[in-house]
Amino acid sequence: MRFRMSHLLGTMVFAGVVASGASGQIVGSDHDFSSKAWSGGEICKPCHTPHNALAGVPRLWNHELTTATYQMHEGTGTAAADFDTDSRFCLSCHDGTVALDSFGGQTGTSFMGGGELLGTDLTNDHPIGSDAMYPPDPQPAWWAGAFQDPANLPSFLRIRDWVDPNGVTQKVVSCASCHTVHNKGGFDHMLRASNAASAICLGCHLK
Ligand code: HEC
Ligand code: HEC
Ligand code: HEC
Ligand code: HEC
Repeated sequence: MRFRMSHLLGTMVFAGVVASGASGQIVGSDHDFSSKAWSGGEICKPCHTPHNALAGVPRLWNHELTTATYQMHEGTGTAAADFDTDSRFCLSCHDGTVALDSFGGQTGTSFMGGGELLGTDLTNDHPIGSDAMYPPDPQPAWWAGAFQDPANLPSFLRIRDWVDPNGVTQKVVSCASCHTVHNKGGFDHMLRASNAASAICLGCHLK
């Protein structure tokens, strides 16, 4: 994706609070699908369900998971093997291989299009998962001079867990490192903070 440095300040309101018109919550955000025909008027259900959620994944997940193979920065990869759970959730809509309305056990027919569609070629997107260990294991000598110490990351950034092929849990950059899926904060593009003056990028990159 392209990195345009636009921003919008908002207030911190928990995602589930229902109040129309305010920013900083899922209601009225790009992830409030209740006005779309494919959603059945639901806000949470395309992603979560209180009962009969998908087995083997956390968060009471209700949306069919992608099984696509991706072009990644370091070769090919799959969501199950190469991504943290949150990135896998995101790409289950944003790679365009699973219908938006494939949730709750139904097979849908409405697919994502437009600027929000990342597709399965992730070589033109910021690295995530196995492409972006934070820190890499083993850690090369140049890394410490190029990246912020993991202990000193700005509090808004989130590093996620990914289990590598050897069964070792590694820390990685995720879609959810930079974005908040519930639009908490109300920043432009559902980012975790304003990216004015590239604040998000400079949170990790020592440039
Ligand atoms: C390193 C931080 C970072 C990561 C990781 C990241 N994004 Fe983004 N994303 C951004 C920024 C910054 C923008 C705003 C770019 C802009 O202003 O054009 C953005 C924009 C977007 C947009 C809106 C595109 C548009 O043109 O309006 C979508 C959709 C998106 N990201 C999805 C994802 C998904 C899905 C993932 C994981 C595969 C992901 N992002 C990973 C930082 C990130
Ligand atoms: C577009 C998909 C999507 C929608 C819609 C959505 N969520 Fe989530 N939700 C997620 C993802 C992905 C996570 C994991 C995010 C993370 O860990 O950063 C999550 C995590 C959560 C969590 C646990 C962690 C936390 O952030 O508190 C709760 C509770 C939750 N969601 C509630 C809700 C409720 C209630 C709604 C409806 C008002 C909702 N979500 C709508 C995708 C969604
Ligand atoms: C249930 C499907 C679904 C899931 C799961 C999902 N998204 Fe989305 N997302 C959408 C749709 C549909 C849109 C476009 C809405 C519209 O038409 O405006 C969107 C829009 C966005 C945008 C654009 C916001 C903007 O203002 O430019 C970002 C960023 C984004 N999603 C990130 C994520 C991230 C990160 C995750 C995982 C944590 C995720 N999405 C999970 C369906 C989903
Ligand atoms: C959460 C930490 C984090 C944030 C925030 C972050 N990056 Fe990164 N970035 C990484 C990691 C880790 C890598 C992969 C380094 C490697 O292993 O080669 C990376 C790689 C890159 C690369 C090299 C990609 C390539 O093709 O080799 C660029 C360029 C980059 N980031 C730009 C950005 C920009 C622009 C932003 C802000 C929108 C940003 N990053 C935000 C951690 C981050």
